[in-house]
Amino acid sequence: MAVEHTLQQLEDLLISVADSAVPLLGQTSRHILGAGGKRVRPRLLLLAFEAAGGEDFDEVIPLAAAVEIIHTATLVHDDINDHGTLRRGRETVNSRWGGTFALLTGDYLFTRTYELMAPYSTELNLILARAATALVEGETMQIQAAREGTFDRQTYFQIIARKTAALFVAAAEMGATAAEAPAECLRALSQYAFHLGIAFQLIDDVLDLGANSAQLGKNAGIDIAQGRGIAVAMQGGASPGNTSAPATEAENDITPEALQRRILRGTTVEEASAKGREKAQEFAQQAIEQLAALPASPAVDELRALAHQVVERDH
Ligand code: IPE
Ligand code: IPE
Ligand code: MG
Ligand code: MG
Repeated sequence: MAVEHTLQQLEDLLISVADSAVPLLGQTSRHILGAGGKRVRPRLLLLAFEAAGGEDFDEVIPLAAAVEIIHTATLVHDDINDHGTLRRGRETVNSRWGGTFALLTGDYLFTRTYELMAPYSTELNLILARAATALVEGETMQIQAAREGTFDRQTYFQIIARKTAALFVAAAEMGATAAEAPAECLRALSQYAFHLGIAFQLIDDVLDLGANSAQLGKNAGIDIAQGRGIAVAMQGGASPGNTSAPATEAENDITPEALQRRILRGTTVEEASAKGREKAQEFAQQAIEQLAALPASPAVDELRALAHQVVERDH
């Protein structure tokens, strides 16, 4: 209950942080921050705080906002790189205002977190700073591996640990640290969040394969088209430009369907989806197992439920 109420207060803070003396930045930032989103990371931070014995939620709202804003900044930049046109059910910033203003909007959101984090301890600042670094590293590794045709399973897991799980871990560690959790409790929440983050990205990739943009509120079918994601990782790395043999007539066919057949080789979308779901289930289960180290509480029950929701979600 307290978490739901705090998440509503978070919305107000997000909108006020989006303000800028430069009206255009305020407009673009409100466009993306005000579009909602699942708010999984701030929820995780608040639940970790509560599970670790934290009581005063007002103390941690700016931390929850900082995590969500970093996440949102990376989405704005990700949509430039992915040429996305739809995000959170709205036109992307790059699509409406162009790539240059989208780049600056992402930068603006990143910089807004400095002020939010300034009143907090060095420890809390470092947790978030390191996750933000990992995120950029993960996104970079992903584009590089897709371009070079080295997108295999091992690389895939290294990438998603950085681009997604790192911020989940930071959210949980920030909540636990703000609650002054004992080391064992902090470790359990951190491990829970890592496994949850991996499961979350696996399902994101499975949903991307389903190619239903309206349901997701963002462009689907992007991963295969760009030579990455769960299906590509499963068949050991491929890119459309990854062959030294001269292109056959079939290879010159660049319709999305032909591209998909070539990239997937023997793997069907159904097989990749089933494997992705199975793996996500395993990671969610491992996340849940970590919770045994924490004293039972309603917040721990909610963390357990969150792990189930992450693998059962359809958007
Ligand atoms: C999308 O994250 C990017 C991934 C790491 C998969 P979310 O699915 O949490 O996006 P929003 O915040 O709900 O829009
Ligand atoms: C996650 O990867 C993006 C970030 C962590 C920034 P995706 O590229 O799969 O995210 P979506 O599917 O566009 O939301
Ligand atoms: Mg993307
Ligand atoms: Mg995706």
